[in-house]
Amino acid sequence: MFDDVKKKLEKDLKDIKDLKELNDLKVKYLGKKGLITELNSKIKEVANEKKKEFGMKVNELRTSFNDFYDDKKKALEEEILNEKLKNEVIDITLPATTIPMGSPNILERVIEDFEEVFMSLGYDVYDGPEIEEDKYNFELLNIPKGHPARDAQDTFYIEGDEILLRSQTSPVQARVMLEKKGKEPVRMICPGKTYRRDDDDATHSHQFMQIEGLLVDKNISLSDLKGTFDVAAKKLFGEDTVTRFRPSYYQFTEPSVETDISCFACKGEGCSLCKNTGWITISGAGMVHPNVLRNCGYDPEEWSGFAFGFGADRCAMLKYGIDDIRTFYNTDLREVKPFDRGGAK
Ligand code: DAH
Repeated sequence: MFDDVKKKLEKDLKDIKDLKELNDLKVKYLGKKGLITELNSKIKEVANEKKKEFGMKVNELRTSFNDFYDDKKKALEEEILNEKLKNEVIDITLPATTIPMGSPNILERVIEDFEEVFMSLGYDVYDGPEIEEDKYNFELLNIPKGHPARDAQDTFYIEGDEILLRSQTSPVQARVMLEKKGKEPVRMICPGKTYRRDDDDATHSHQFMQIEGLLVDKNISLSDLKGTFDVAAKKLFGEDTVTRFRPSYYQFTEPSVETDISCFACKGEGCSLCKNTGWITISGAGMVHPNVLRNCGYDPEEWSGFAFGFGADRCAMLKYGIDDIRTFYNTDLREVKPFDRGGAK
């Protein structure tokens, strides 16, 4: 009986191929109804003088089974691990996959540069609503209903003739002045989206970006505007930039100017970027009209100020040599990739 089990076991052990078979074998021999377990229970049928020897033999068998079990389990697990390692081999000589990284939109970058320069000059950055009232977009800015100056800004009206998509960031000037109630100086810039009913082409977009600026204080004159513009232009476009003003007309400023910088591509020599003039116009500006100051709660006898409005898209296009404004607003990443700062190659 004992020898039968031992022989069977020896044969079975030879056939074990995997962990499942090994576990099944454990059940077969050491389980509740296992062959070794059963042998053990037969001890009571054995004659007294042989009991000890029988018991020892069963024990030996169990111990050797357990030893075999442990060794085989270890060997099988190792085999599995080796197999796995063989299949998962890592070739460290392969080139690494590059993970594509985004980078700030060029337009956003230009706006951030403006913000940095003007914040360093003590200006606060404001935000204003893109859905605006006619009052702020036009009336408070000295452009009454029916005035021909409105024609230049072909406006999207949303509700009747009172609610519109702002056609300029200038309404934020009025909002900030009214907020300060004519009592404190104002130093603010406001970058933001603006809308006009233009047909989109390389130089027009129905949605574009402006950066508005306003300074109101005591004894402010056109030379303060010139000085501020000069400092900002040098910081934004390079220290050797030269600036000039040309007379212009805006309803909300008097006098009004167009502000030019010397062409940064040809340094004023004349090239295709500046249409051979040596100059590039980057904003409209002027001294805040007394009507606007009065409309917004500032006494023009006491206060004066200057304002400016940069075309952010135009600045970004000039700075980065982009010839189509739609580049900023479509979703083709290939068009902005060349301007990535440290993104994917
Ligand atoms: N809002 C003007 C425009 O959209 C730009 C502008 C010109 C803004 C002169 C100003 C300014 O603040 O003083 O054409």
